[in-house]
Amino acid sequence: MDRKIFDKYVLKTYTRQPITIVKGRGMTVWDANGRQYLDFFPGYGAGNMGHCHPKIVEAIHKQVEQIIHVPNVYYNDAQGELARLIIENTFDGQVFFCNSGAEANEGVIKLARKRNPHKKTIITLKNSFHGRTIAAVTATGQPVYHNGFDPLPGGFEYCEINDIEMLKKMMADDVAAVMFEPILGEGGIVPVTPEFMKAARQFCDDYDALLILDEVQSGIGRTGKLFAYQYYDVEPDVLTMAKSLGGGVPIGAFAVKREYCGILKPGDHGSTFGGNPLACSAGVAVINAIADENLLENAVKMGGYLRENLEDLKTKHSIIKDIRGVGLMLGMELSVPGADIVKECLKRNVLLNCTHLTVLRIMPAINVEKDQIDRVIAVIDEVLGEVGKS
Ligand SMILES: Cc1ncc(COP(=O)(O)O)c(C=O)c1O
Repeated sequence: MDRKIFDKYVLKTYTRQPITIVKGRGMTVWDANGRQYLDFFPGYGAGNMGHCHPKIVEAIHKQVEQIIHVPNVYYNDAQGELARLIIENTFDGQVFFCNSGAEANEGVIKLARKRNPHKKTIITLKNSFHGRTIAAVTATGQPVYHNGFDPLPGGFEYCEINDIEMLKKMMADDVAAVMFEPILGEGGIVPVTPEFMKAARQFCDDYDALLILDEVQSGIGRTGKLFAYQYYDVEPDVLTMAKSLGGGVPIGAFAVKREYCGILKPGDHGSTFGGNPLACSAGVAVINAIADENLLENAVKMGGYLRENLEDLKTKHSIIKDIRGVGLMLGMELSVPGADIVKECLKRNVLLNCTHLTVLRIMPAINVEKDQIDRVIAVIDEVLGEVGKS
């Protein structure tokens, strides 16, 4: 299709790279001219399994031929099976399904506030990202995402990441929840320290508040655990997920510990498409494939290999300030804006992302292989060399 037609009819809420992607397989995508790219930021964090993973494609095909949508006034097997898999891989409780990360976070904000009429404040982190709907964007601790959308809902407060003293001072009897990403994603790939995680758990216990972890980006094997919180010796009360859970099909969900499962009662919350069999059968295929193909192990191994290579680049290029992250959720902080570097990599057939202005996000699918990492490292090396010279 002519891009002029696209631009005429599609609202311009995104800055788009000048390629039209028509096909994807594994780590590779093709544009409309047949040119191939290595995709090292697949699906904007929703591509942990790579493009068109055969088991996910097969599950979707099978489901499409059976039934596509079942309303939530009836049972559907795929929803039950996906809930079972999520709970058996996290903590005892139940799951609510929706269609996106923002929606999952909206749902848990409602749950936290419904729990106790005297507890309404939600503490989140500065530089966090929780989505674009009005409560999720307010929970997002970055003014740039708030500008122009006032009046925003009240009751949100923002703490510095890893500042235990600040969080301690902010805790009070009216706090309903402390909610954060174990690793800030949009905020520049910044992991929460084990000490902060432990303190947040303790403060939530002391003040009878919920600990909510947003694993929309860090979940589904991205870090080498199914959920990043599993690296910490701490369990959340509520866990949100989306992005890669559907292997490319839109889905969102939150898991709630058993003791909090009675807060949202029939009629309190819902979603027409939430938990539909198409998305859930894809989700079941995702979780099973991660286990069957040892992809958590691969994420740890390849994450280590990628990180070593990025650290080597850091010794070579002075514009690299820091390499951060866990498993295959890696960021490279630069002393210069990253947008032009992303463009230069694209010219060399490599897709990357820049967040927080100066942080390159390098998050290939968790079934990535060594030679694909080698090719991308060579391209980043070349581009940084040229940028460094200029
Ligand atoms: C940590 C986190 N939470 C929530 C969201 C919002 O998810 P969605 O775009 O599916 O609404 C994102 C999206 O980038 C995210 O990274």
